[in-house]
This record gives sequence, structure tokens and C-alpha cells, in this order.
Amino acid sequence: MDDAQVRLVQDSWARINPLGMRFVRDFYARLFDSHPELEGLFPDDMASQENLLYRMFNSAVSSVSSPAIFDSMMTRLGIQHGEYGLTQEHYAVFTRSMLQTMQETLDAEWTADHEDAWQEMFQEMCGRMLAA
Ligand code: HEM
Repeated sequence: MDDAQVRLVQDSWARINPLGMRFVRDFYARLFDSHPELEGLFPDDMASQENLLYRMFNSAVSSVSSPAIFDSMMTRLGIQHGEYGLTQEHYAVFTRSMLQTMQETLDAEWTADHEDAWQEMFQEMCGRMLAA
């Protein structure tokens, strides 16, 4: 990611951030709507999961310019995800639902540059998780 993309990711997350759990709930609703088979992987009570995902995005966005911290965080998360038997396609579906939820949330403020910057961000996150 170049510096401009890091700024786009951080600025757009700063605008999504105040929505907190509402954003994360919208994301999971979209994910399970498009891929109902994934819902069974998750617990019935999603409150704690929503909170963990939200906090993980805060940490990932703020450490994206610090490769040592970012890489070790994503590697640890990837190892935790190892038990679910996820493939590249699972990560692609996750990324797609996230990007669509961001676009819907930011509406007119969302641009093609945001899309590209977040694509890169997810490639960095998911790539490290899958390689873990
Ligand atoms: C950028 C990609 C992803 C991020 C940042 C992420 C983040 C997280 C976090 C922070 C947790 C909680 C870990 C903990 O217990 O401390 C978690 C758990 C989990 N994630 Fe992900 N995840 C990602 C991709 C995926 C994908 C692609 C799937 C499957 C489609 C998935 C399925 C799960 C499941 C099943 C759990 C455990 C839920 C539970 O039993 O409590 N994740 N994820």
C-alpha cells in the first residue's frame, strides 16, 4: 500500500468507526445473507464476536504503517483461524461483504480510490492470515 492508500483507509475507517457495532452487525448480516452456509461456523450469540472484529479492525488500521506489529498481529489471527479450514475463497467472500458494507455506509463519500485502497488492505490482512 502506498501512503495515499494508507491515508484513505485510515480516513474512511475514522468515519465508519463511530458507528461501531452497527457497522459490524450490518457486515455479518450481509455475509450470512449472501453465504448462509457460513453462519454455522459462528456462535449463536454474536455479541462478543462483533466486538472482537471491531477491535481487530481498529488495531489493523492503526498499525498498517508498522509492518512488524501488523504482520505479527495478522499471523497470530491467521493461526487462530486455522481450525476453521478456511480457503482463499472464504477470505474473498469476507472481503466482498466488507467492501459492500463500507460502500453502503459511506455512500456518496465512497470512491473508486477507497475501493482500491481497501482491496489492498484486505489483501495484506488476508494474505498474512492465510500464510500463517
Ligand atoms: C480480514 C479477515 C478476518 C478478520 C480480521 C477476522 C477477525 C476475527 C477475530 C478478531 C476473531 C476473534 C478471535 C478471538 O477469539 O480472539 C475471529 C473469529 C472468527 N472468525 Fe474471523 N476474521 C477474518 C476472516 C474470517 C473468515 C474469512 C471467516 C470465515 C468465513 C472467519 C470466521 C471466523 C470464526 C468462525 C471465528 C470464531 C467465532 C467464535 O467461535 O467465537 N473469519 N475473526
